[in-house]
Amino acid sequence: MNKNTKAPQVIGIASGKGGVGKTSVTSNLAVALTQRNHRVMVFDADLGLANAQIALGVHAPFNIGHVLRFVAGLAALGMDATRPLQTSTNPATS
Ligand SMILES: Nc1ncnc2c1ncn2[C@@H]1O[C@H](COP(=O)(O)OP(=O)(O)OP(=O)(O)O)[C@@H](O)[C@H]1O
Ligand SMILES: [Mg+2]
Repeated sequence: MNKNTKAPQVIGIASGKGGVGKTSVTSNLAVALTQRNHRVMVFDADLGLANAQIALGVHAPFNIGHVLRFVAGLAALGMDATRPLQTSTNPATS
């Protein structure tokens, strides 16, 4: 894996069976990659019992529910949440 690559690399860790070590592998892989100066984001897709933050000893203030509600809120305001946010390049407003 090239740490200088701009596009993110996605590693999916999944299993049809519970308790086989998905969270353990994910947590240790995230730590190992971080120690090699990769920037890592862990997304625990267990919507009901996500526990990656416990395994990693960190506090995760947001979950996928917050993201979905944010996107739904943008749609309710008539905004296109599928487009990247634009930053102003107008010097008069910066
Ligand atoms: N802190 C811990 N101490 C001892 N055993 C643990 C600990 N955390 C997990 N285990 C055990 O290690 C094994 C793998 O756990 P892990 O949470 O990585 O599996 P998982 O595939 O993520 O499980 P789930 O499907 O419930 O998300 C399980 O048998 C679990 O009981
Ligand atoms: Mg797990």
